[in-house]
Amino acid sequence: MDDIFKSSGIKRNTKICKIEDLEEDKALVKKGEDKYLPGIIIYKNKDSIYIWLNNCPHAHLTLDIIEGRVQSKNNDLLCANHGAKFNPITGECIKGPCKNSFLKSFPFKIKNNYILAG
Ligand code: FES
Repeated sequence: MDDIFKSSGIKRNTKICKIEDLEEDKALVKKGEDKYLPGIIIYKNKDSIYIWLNNCPHAHLTLDIIEGRVQSKNNDLLCANHGAKFNPITGECIKGPCKNSFLKSFPFKIKNNYILAG
């Protein structure tokens, strides 16, 4: 399980953000100290939070070509490389070259109103 922390660039127990920093249905991309590692995508919907590794299962590139831009108009997550669209809640690719594959879920916990990696 530890390798998702290494491969994302976000170490276990890192403070990712405050819950109130998240906007409803707006994906937020966070990188770790090493900006060349892909980081994660955080998505809040109603009372639930979903975090995905920012790595497309099609060609294992980050979803965002323009940093932080990972959403289509209807709030699906969109890979800018070849147009794969992902359901932001299930992580499933619903359209595009990796249809039916999934983004990798990133483990997190909530403590004192902060989202922490782990
Ligand atoms: S790398 Fe995401 S669609 Fe090809």
